[in-house]
Formats: sequence, C-alpha cells, structure tokens
Amino acid sequence: MMKSVTCTAPVNIAVIKYWGKRDEKLILPINSSISATLGQNELRAKTTAAISKDFTEDKMWLNGEEQPMTSSRIQNVLKEIKRRAQKRKSQEMADDSIHWHLHVCSENNFPTAAGLASSAAGYACFVHTLAQLYGITGEISDIARLGSGSACRSVYGGFVLWDMGTEQNGSDSIAKQIAPESHWPELRILILVVSDQRKYVGSSEGMQTSVQTCELLKKRTEIVSSRIDQMTEAILKKDFETFAELTMKESNQLHAVCLDTFPPISYMRDVSHHIVRLVHNYNKIVGHTKVAYTFDAGPNACLYLLEEDVPAVMSLVNHFYPPVQNGTELTVKGLSIEKIPHQQNIVDAIQLPTQPGAVKYCIHTKVGPGPQVIKSPAESLLDSTGQPKTVST
Ligand code: PMV
Repeated sequence: MMKSVTCTAPVNIAVIKYWGKRDEKLILPINSSISATLGQNELRAKTTAAISKDFTEDKMWLNGEEQPMTSSRIQNVLKEIKRRAQKRKSQEMADDSIHWHLHVCSENNFPTAAGLASSAAGYACFVHTLAQLYGITGEISDIARLGSGSACRSVYGGFVLWDMGTEQNGSDSIAKQIAPESHWPELRILILVVSDQRKYVGSSEGMQTSVQTCELLKKRTEIVSSRIDQMTEAILKKDFETFAELTMKESNQLHAVCLDTFPPISYMRDVSHHIVRLVHNYNKIVGHTKVAYTFDAGPNACLYLLEEDVPAVMSLVNHFYPPVQNGTELTVKGLSIEKIPHQQNIVDAIQLPTQPGAVKYCIHTKVGPGPQVIKSPAESLLDSTGQPKTVST
C-alpha cells in the first residue's frame, strides 16, 4: 500500500527584494517583498512524495542524487507538515498512514543554485506536494517560508506580496496574491543566463552578514515600505514605466547593500554590469523605460519587458553577446521570439563594446500560475515501489 502525489511549482523573481532576517529559525524577514511568479514550462521544480507501510526510513533524492534529510530547514518543514496533518487526522483520517516513512524525489528543469531561485521553487513544491499527500488545506505559504524565505511567494501564481508580518511566532508572515497571472498578459521575462555555476556566498549566509555589518541595510528598511505601496499600485495599474524603474532601483539597492556588507559580497559580474549599461542606454535612446533588469544572488540578468519589445531587445542581446559557436544567435528556451535584425542606429548610439560568449543562453517566459498537481502516473518521479525512476551514477 503506497500513497503518492506529484506536483510542480514555479520560480519567482522579486521586484521588491527580500534581504535580511529578523528571526533565523522562523525565517522572518526585515522587510516585505514582491515578486512575479514565472511560467512553469520554462522553469519549475517537480516533486513526487510517497508514503508507505513498507518504507523503512525517510529518504530524499534531488536531481537524481540521494540527499540526507537532516538539514534543519527540511526538518522544520516536515515537523510543521506533520503537526498540521496530525491535527487533521484527529478530525478525519482513519488510518495510521501519518506515521509511515516518506520518500521524496525532486528535480528542477533548470540549473540549481545559480541565482535562478531554485530553492524557492524547490521548497514551494516540497510543501505543496506534502500538503496534498496529507490532505492539509488552507494557508501553506508560512510552511514554505520555513524552507526558504522566498519560497513562500512561489505558493501563488501571478504577482505576490510576502507580508513581513509583526507577530513573533511568524503567523502573519505570509504570502498574498496581489493579482493573478491573467492580470498583465503582455508582461514578459527574458533571463540572460551568464553562468549556471553555484553561487559562492549562499543567500542565507550573505543576508546574515549584511544584517550584522551593513549600515545601508538600516536605511533600506525605511525605504522599502513605501516602495511596496508604489510597486503594488504600479502592478495593479499595469504602469510599466514605474514598475520597471522601481525594479531596477531595488536590484541596485540589493547589490549596494551586498557591497556595503563586511566583508563585501558581489554577485554581479562584469557582464552583469554591461547588461545594466545596455538597458539604461537603450531606454535613454528610445526615450522610454522599455526594459528593466533585476539580479538576485547570482550574476544572471532577469529582464522584465512588454511582449511588443521582445524582438528588438533580443536582437540587441544577440548583437552584444553573440555566441562564440553554433551560429550567430543565442539559444532561447521557452516562448518563441520573432527574429528581426537589430537597428544599426540604436546599436551605434548604445556605444558599448560587444562581449562574445558572455551570455550562454536565454529563457523567455511570462507570468504564470502557482503550484500544480500532476495526475498522470507516467509523470511520477517514483516507481510503483517508491524508488526513483532515474538516479545519477
Ligand atoms: O529565500 P532565499 O534565501 O533564497 O533568498 C532570496 C533572496 C533574493 O533572491 C536575493 C531576493 C528575493 O526576494 O528573492
């Protein structure tokens, strides 16, 4: 007898950034944050969780490799899931399946830990899948938050606010949807992957050092709350220029905070700064804020822009960062992009050198829905005996 559930969950990219905790264990942030949830065809975590009387221990596999389940974050999430399941059991679950051992198998369809919010998708998926397995209903973003702060925002689709809350026990530090994915259908996200290597300072360690040493972070907490209101309004009104400007300022402030941390942390690389210049020069030349960049704890650029501007921007990306092999155009994963030649007058006015090979590939996506349950058994990551279907050797 085995019960199993498979789910997928999305990545989210913050436009108002979370950086710094006021409680390390409960993962309570020092400021609220806002993100957009990305489409799952391009970026998603997938998890199968199963419980069976025949399992002899809890086991977990991540991207084909067995992982210990001993990390305090995983344990905190499991404890909370079991606590809520127990509560429910006393009401309606008749069997003792809550005490059975658990097998969890997870994989991402994109590079892990490269500043592409893989932990957000991973923990949101883990929590959503376990909630389905144990029949837990109601708010689960607070459980996802225990795994990775930003994961609480991946529990919803569309545009999402993580309210920092004020309660000491974290009960009001939860995610709320500002608008569904259908709200702003023209919005697009173009990720320029410059590296899929692991980041050298993890976000938890980085945040902790910033909270301890960064003077600028104290100032930032005063600034963020009004930015939360401005960003919410820009999203609700679909005011791209305000949305874009705030997004860029937020990214810049996050990385300024990182540099003001002692010892300093720098996630952006030369090419990241080159992309920043390209975006600003382009916006200036066309006379409107048409593109926004944002960077998280890694060097990859995430561009927010409108559908109508994607072909022109992609032509510039191809011009400034051409591949060094396999033709003259970068590989784009995800939504297709109409190919148009770059405008020479714009290229000339941008006045930047080209950086061949600096961008590895691009991902083109749009705002998408929250976690999904996958019914088809063929999609399960575990076989009928609860073992992973594929394991790396
Ligand atoms: O949840 P974490 O620990 O992966 O932190 C993520 C922090 C940033 O991605 C840099 C910003 C954010 O709000 O997502």
